Amino acid sequence: MNQSTRILRLDASANPGESGSRKLGDHLLRQIALTNQHIEVLERDLNREAQFIDGHWIAANFIAADSRSEAHNQRLAQSDKLIAELEWADHIVLTTPMYNFAIPATLKAWIDQVCRAGVTFRYGADGPVGLLTGKRVDIVITTGGAALGSPVDFVSSYLRQVFAFIGINEIEITGADGMNQDAEQSFARAVRQIEQRYPAAAA
Ligand SMILES: Cc1cc2nc3c(=O)[nH]c(=O)nc-3n(C[C@H](O)[C@H](O)[C@H](O)COP(=O)(O)O)c2cc1C
Repeated sequence: MNQSTRILRLDASANPGESGSRKLGDHLLRQIALTNQHIEVLERDLNREAQFIDGHWIAANFIAADSRSEAHNQRLAQSDKLIAELEWADHIVLTTPMYNFAIPATLKAWIDQVCRAGVTFRYGADGPVGLLTGKRVDIVITTGGAALGSPVDFVSSYLRQVFAFIGINEIEITGADGMNQDAEQSFARAVRQIEQRYPAAAA
């Protein structure tokens, strides 16, 4: 029997009930399910349980794993859990809106929790080396008006950089920019992009 593809789904919209990026994420997952019947999905809403790093977290992270106290381990517990989810996954699906030209703070909190030296990247002779290899990520980005790829888009290239930094270089971005201008057209364009990437006929 084929081994399942393990998908970690991360959603960052602060408005989950009305979220266009989440709806596109739903569609993307439906299309993946049409092309691959063996999937397991783990979902994480980044609005729940978001924890920001602080001085205690940074201190605990700098101490060698075998010298950490119980308090240090507790401070890193969420980071350990989020990293374990990433390690578990073969494929990550991330949906996010643009907020103030960048990513929602909850997504930044997640990024700060999962980028850890010696765990998800290490410093090599030629600079940092990502350790989470062999994975892919599909990113869905919605914006109200800012065009993705334009000089005010601090989302796309930032997310590409972060995932590459931890070793995930197979990165696809689906953009529904301009949702506050012509939501229908923008949404439909993104749906077409998703269906081209995961065509149902390939099932
Ligand atoms: C707090 C906030 C900040 C936003 N900042 C921007 C922005 O800088 N540029 C932009 O084009 N749209 C901006 N938007 C619009 C959202 O990106 C857009 O409505 C998007 O479709 C929301 O995605 P969602 O439906 O998945 O939550 C902002 C929306 C909110 C709520």
